Amino acid sequence: MVSEWISRDAARCWHPFTQMKDYELQPPLLITRARGAKLFSADGNYYYDTISSWWCNTLGHNHPRLKAALRRQMNQLEHTLFAGITHPPAIELAERLTAIAPEGLKKVFFSDNGSTAVEVALKMSLQYWRNTAQPQRSLFIGLDHGYHGDTVGAMSVSGRSAFNEVFSPLLFDARHVPAPYCYRCPCGKQYPSCGIACLEPLRQICAAEGNRVSALIIEPLLLAAGGMIVYPREYLEGAVAIARGCGAHIIFDEIATGFCRTGTMFACEQTAATPDFLCLSKGITAGYLPLGVTLVTEQIYQAFYDDYTRKKTFYHGHTYTANPLACAVAVEALKIYTEERVVERVQSQAVVLQKAMQQFRHLPNVGDVRGIGMVGAVELVRDRATKEPFAFEQRVGFQVYREGLAEHLLLRPLGNVIYFFLPFCLRDAEILRIVRRTHAVLAHLK
Ligand SMILES: Cc1ncc(COP(=O)(O)O)c(C=O)c1O
Repeated sequence: MVSEWISRDAARCWHPFTQMKDYELQPPLLITRARGAKLFSADGNYYYDTISSWWCNTLGHNHPRLKAALRRQMNQLEHTLFAGITHPPAIELAERLTAIAPEGLKKVFFSDNGSTAVEVALKMSLQYWRNTAQPQRSLFIGLDHGYHGDTVGAMSVSGRSAFNEVFSPLLFDARHVPAPYCYRCPCGKQYPSCGIACLEPLRQICAAEGNRVSALIIEPLLLAAGGMIVYPREYLEGAVAIARGCGAHIIFDEIATGFCRTGTMFACEQTAATPDFLCLSKGITAGYLPLGVTLVTEQIYQAFYDDYTRKKTFYHGHTYTANPLACAVAVEALKIYTEERVVERVQSQAVVLQKAMQQFRHLPNVGDVRGIGMVGAVELVRDRATKEPFAFEQRVGFQVYREGLAEHLLLRPLGNVIYFFLPFCLRDAEILRIVRRTHAVLAHLK
């Protein structure tokens, strides 16, 4: 029965971020149900969902409250357009989001996923400057190792990488500044004595082209898909101050870091920096339904509010904008985050995870161990002394993925970076079990 499903998959399905030929070596798992942090396959196995099903399933699978919220909404209204119509789940969600968001964010624009939340922010920032008589501001600045999604605008501001290099003819011109990647410091220095010298290129761009900059886009404290790079709060604060100094907007992409992931509701709360735009998705529905939102300040919103004939309208939308089912589940997820004090739970789980992560330091091919909140990462290297990475062709990550399955772990390394993005429903003993089993996998790597 399993093999029949797998053949039918191979005949018709094309999976994301996947070299489909790999399925000849390692077919996809046929998952038929899930509960809490475990995925169950049709052949009777279980796997720990160590990456929260692509970083969104924060509260665990099959959650009774989230399922009940979905059922309730299904019986009321499943979908309608969101132009000329509104509905209670969207209104309640917007109220709840603005109540917990960083100061100053007052309006919510809905879309479907993380990439669209970013596209909205980029387009709004650009149009803001046109609506306010500064059309020369059309330049965006992003970080090397930044990742903001796979649509064309989001790729343009993301760091150049294997994910997007083939699409470079499609991408618009943006500036990219070195990432605050302390293990591989772009300035060859050491934190904290470096004085955050890696901010200098941003300073130079802003000095030379400051009046052309529309916005700086950045993932607060964790460059996630770019290699789970955790960076110092002073970098974020410094970058925001420099970009604000030249009058640019600040876009925080908390699509991966939002909703308790780093030990605060939003990662930027651990800093003094605040944005003009905040992009959220993933944990907003605890991973149950697709939804993206872009929160903006009143000042941004007001620049679009005018007589229709003056052409200041924001012409952007998607069929499923503010889908009522997704909004209702998101409202319930936000209630759970606050009522069940999930921030505090994550803070105590983080102590367990980050302490356990230290055992990786003793393994011969581990170059760096880093983490924040319920994210822990290990960067594997060929040579610890030179930090020489394993070559792409060696496919170390793929090997770890395959060995992980034998230990009932669903790991999905980013190249040479093996990481956890754990769901918050895990008990401490399970966190330790996952780390211990992953340690066994890495210790036996050939
Ligand atoms: C920081 C960040 N921004 C944007 C995205 C894109 O989100 P989506 O895959 O929902 O389009 C991701 C996805 O991993 C992300 O981590």
